[in-house]
Amino acid sequence: MSSKENYIARNRNHEEIRRGGAIGNLNEGIEIILHNIPTRLIAWPGNGFQTESVHVLTLAPGLESPLYQYQISEEALLCVQGKGEVYLRGQWVEIEPGDIAYFPEDISHGIRNPIHNKEDFILVSAITPPLVSLYEASGFYITELGKMDFDAVEAAQELIVPGNISKKNYLRYNESHPELRAWNLKADDVRREGALFNIFKGAEFDANGSPMRFILWPGHGSRQCGFHLTRCSSGDMFAAHTHPVSDECVVVWAGSARGFLDNHWLEMDTHECLLAPCGVPHGGPLNIKTDTVSAHQQAKDTLWGGFASPPQGDLYLRGGYIKDQRISDPPAIRFKDIEPLQ
Ligand SMILES: [Fe+2]
Repeated sequence: MSSKENYIARNRNHEEIRRGGAIGNLNEGIEIILHNIPTRLIAWPGNGFQTESVHVLTLAPGLESPLYQYQISEEALLCVQGKGEVYLRGQWVEIEPGDIAYFPEDISHGIRNPIHNKEDFILVSAITPPLVSLYEASGFYITELGKMDFDAVEAAQELIVPGNISKKNYLRYNESHPELRAWNLKADDVRREGALFNIFKGAEFDANGSPMRFILWPGHGSRQCGFHLTRCSSGDMFAAHTHPVSDECVVVWAGSARGFLDNHWLEMDTHECLLAPCGVPHGGPLNIKTDTVSAHQQAKDTLWGGFASPPQGDLYLRGGYIKDQRISDPPAIRFKDIEPLQ
């Protein structure tokens, strides 16, 4: 088995992923039905994650969830393809690829794809902390024993049917519904009621020369949910690092990358993701144009961003956004010139 195949999530069990990470893919995960919606499990307690679950939700036209709420968990819903509506702050709101709807714990929310739409409405959901009760009906959590049924998880991994997210990058900046946008609201208001974010607007951070934005983070109103986005140009790279307390699922949204995981460099394509539970050494994005070993050339930049929970205070400290244990609320700055990346 090649080094990469060895690290593909479906070929690893939860202990291996917890210890050394894996390469996941938004189109690959065990599928269950949650709130009436086909849901693929990308990062979750069944594969080594303890502090967040990342799922992919696919709503065909006409499909909708009931309104639901999680008393102890927040949820962020990032639209990756198609368009549809979310129930946010008491109204149904249309969102498009690049938008993130954020729901604090105990806030009623829902999702629907109106019947007149022609395309699937596809979202990436981050739930933090993870809720084992979500996995009970499908048999992956055994309530009486208080544990995941990892044998059932591994059996289901053999039967994964790939999803249909296109490699085309539909993510765009969007500022519709200004009254719901996080950058027009106070952080404590976002914290109470939720808001609309967009992956191209957040607090600035220089990650070793790669421009990054803190999108969903306590400075802008979330508590446990975190999402950051970075652009990796030719020559950019991150040193290998770990996060002391945060599990992280970093997705390649456009282009490709060479990701570092557990002492291996692994070439990654669009919609693959580094699954790096806390403590697992990971790095990149190293744009593979810069690879000097195989002289592989890539003319495109890489759009790379991920969900981490609990929030990465280690990065906020480096960014100068924490003083005396207080997190500042810096302006959200639009990330320009990166949306057309394919
Ligand atoms: Fe990281």
